[in-house]
Amino acid sequence: MRATAPVFQDDQSGSWHVFRYDDVQRVLSEHATFSSRMGGDNPSGTGQLFASSLITTDPPRHRQLRSLVTQAFTPKAVDALAPRIAGLTDELMAEIAGKGSADLIRDLAYPLPVIVISELMGIPSEDRERFKHWSDVIVSQTRILPASETQDSTTSEMVEYFLALIDQRRSRPGTDLISSLLAAEIDGQKLTVPELLGFCALLLVAGNETTTNLIGNAVLCLAESPGTLERLLSEPALVPQALEEVLRFRSPVQSMYRVAVADTVVGDQLIPAGAPIVAWIGSANRDGQQFQRAAEFDVDRNPNRHLAFGHGIHFCLGAPLARLEARIALEALLSRLPGLSVASGAQLERMDSSIVYGLKELPVT
Ligand code: HEM
Repeated sequence: MRATAPVFQDDQSGSWHVFRYDDVQRVLSEHATFSSRMGGDNPSGTGQLFASSLITTDPPRHRQLRSLVTQAFTPKAVDALAPRIAGLTDELMAEIAGKGSADLIRDLAYPLPVIVISELMGIPSEDRERFKHWSDVIVSQTRILPASETQDSTTSEMVEYFLALIDQRRSRPGTDLISSLLAAEIDGQKLTVPELLGFCALLLVAGNETTTNLIGNAVLCLAESPGTLERLLSEPALVPQALEEVLRFRSPVQSMYRVAVADTVVGDQLIPAGAPIVAWIGSANRDGQQFQRAAEFDVDRNPNRHLAFGHGIHFCLGAPLARLEARIALEALLSRLPGLSVASGAQLERMDSSIVYGLKELPVT
């Protein structure tokens, strides 16, 4: 598509799709021209749930909402979580070692980020299992275009759960993120309940599936790229750089959507005001105009200006946390399972989502 139809309209849905690095970067970052606002007519559909969240808000509200949570996700604040993340990783790895073989998604890549984000949000540990189900359903239902959002019992279940948790924290505040959001004020005004719910739902989905897939995709890239595992074993300092290449080569978030605010020319196409646009991050990250040997996985790639965490004012808030969790997980895998390989004959099936790129299971030996 980058070569033949870099800016393309899908006649059926009327939506526009952009594939080249420069165009994707522009659509993601020119927020005055490409709005992140997302509607949803259904009052209990997934679109509605995210309609008041950071990721679907434009300035000035976006800046105000983001300022409430930036402190919790600065590199310094996140670094302070490193010992806890390392401890959790050790526990999960010890269980894997006891089994001899494992499904890396189920046994490490999924539980690690869920536990970390649950602890940050003050979610009781016995409720974590329900998160997996909710975030799986939401990821598979949240299509790239708002028009296709659907209502389902999962959304209502999750909303009920968070409403109860918010009530509980209102009466008994703790040191968690939900309690600090409840206490926060913007110009003397508290956050609305839809905004609080938007934060909870966004952190649940954004903080879980994406990091799970970064860890899973990293193992897959190592398995497919001869010599890389050995290289990282002998040079562990290369792990962060290797993870940046995984983010580029197998981007956990493949696409983000925007809406054109005014008639706008992208490439040689006129996109009319109001048109939905899908910016294909996964395609931008393989654009040969931006990356030499773009189709190759190369741990030596540096600099690596991938767009896996987005670009501009909506740049991923959780990027430092995702990078830290993935680094600790990969380092633990290398030191505890140096002979790591994907189980022979394993059928690797992709998750059912047009936004998130990752595997359902990853059996390793
Ligand atoms: C935004 C990717 C992990 C929280 C984004 C965006 C991308 C992204 C592409 C930009 C959305 C846009 O432009 O509309 C990823 C990837 C991750 C990851 C690939 C893991 C490898 C996390 C984690 C958290 C998180 C761990 C939180 C704990 C957020 C939030 C936003 C966001 C809150 C919205 C920021 C805003 O609108 O200002 N992420 N993310 N993400 N991410 Fe992440």
